[in-house]
Amino acid sequence: MKKNIYQPLEAVIEEVIQETPTIKTFVLRPKFDFSFQTGQFIEMTVPGLGEAPFTPSSDPGVKEKIDITIMNVGTVTSKLHTMNKGEVVGIRGPYGKGYPLDKFKGKDVLIAGGGVGLAPLRSLLFSLFSDIDSYNKVVLRYGSRTPSDIVYKNSIPEWAKKKKVDVVTTVDVGDNTWKGNVGLVTTILKDLPVDLNKAVVIVCGPPIMMKFVTLKLLELGFSLKDIYLSMEKSMSCGLGKCGHCRVGKFYACKDGPVFTYEDLKDIHDIWE
Ligand SMILES: Cc1cc2nc3c(=O)[nH]c(=O)nc-3n(C[C@H](O)[C@H](O)[C@H](O)COP(=O)(O)OP(=O)(O)OC[C@H]3O[C@@H](n4cnc5c(N)ncnc54)[C@H](O)[C@@H]3O)c2cc1C
Ligand code: FES
Repeated sequence: MKKNIYQPLEAVIEEVIQETPTIKTFVLRPKFDFSFQTGQFIEMTVPGLGEAPFTPSSDPGVKEKIDITIMNVGTVTSKLHTMNKGEVVGIRGPYGKGYPLDKFKGKDVLIAGGGVGLAPLRSLLFSLFSDIDSYNKVVLRYGSRTPSDIVYKNSIPEWAKKKKVDVVTTVDVGDNTWKGNVGLVTTILKDLPVDLNKAVVIVCGPPIMMKFVTLKLLELGFSLKDIYLSMEKSMSCGLGKCGHCRVGKFYACKDGPVFTYEDLKDIHDIWE
């Protein structure tokens, strides 16, 4: 019998971590062999309700479990947020092209994240950390709305202590516990410890953040081909068949979701 390419396979929720008031990380144990490359995405199904695309946030080197970090925004995600350890979801994939790690080797790798956009970037960070001698340095700049909206709160200070890693975070609005930077992510993109001639930048966050970060990077002199954007366009099949995710001449699911700004620069509505 022909295999149904849309058929999700089962994965058990092994742990649920409350990251922020609206974001949870689900640690899943697939009941089948599963592996992914950093930056690829999966379609996750809530039985009887529907499915939605997410990018694993865990280390691709760990095969038996995957972490999916999910913001509660609508029908599928709000149902997922009610699910607990032991319950079963469906997953299919992985789909799309991941981050082109070979193109980052020997470079200063700048990572700019906003909000839940740090999820795919966490998986990228794990990949870079596991082979850190292949990269010149890793520079993370991350912003969230408030201190309580910071994801992976306990991990970020640990990442900052690693060799060749430089981390700065910011919040749009501080509170009396917050001693760090206050301002949009663009405000922590000045005086970057990177050499523009051998740097790549990977950006992931809400569309408005991606737009203004990209404009700032261009102003700073980064080349269009060195700016990588994760385009979280509305998707359905995930397989390049339905056309839902069209971005200009590309299908975000099949040709992306990671694109260089050079690929996208002439498309009018990329930030919408
Ligand atoms: C490749 C890819 C990877 C993604 N990775 C993650 C991830 O790791 N973590 C995460 O929290 N989210 C991720 N998203 C976004 C996630 O897929 C949506 O938030 C989800 O589909 C919303 O489904 P829903 O049924 O809960 O919301 P719906 O009821 O469908 O919609 C609720 C609201 O969310 C908006 N929305 C719907 N789909 C998207 C979308 N694709 N992107 C942005 N806004 C949307 C709608 O405009 C609406 O305002 C990713 C999206 C893509 C395409
Ligand atoms: S989601 Fe169907 S073509 Fe991309």
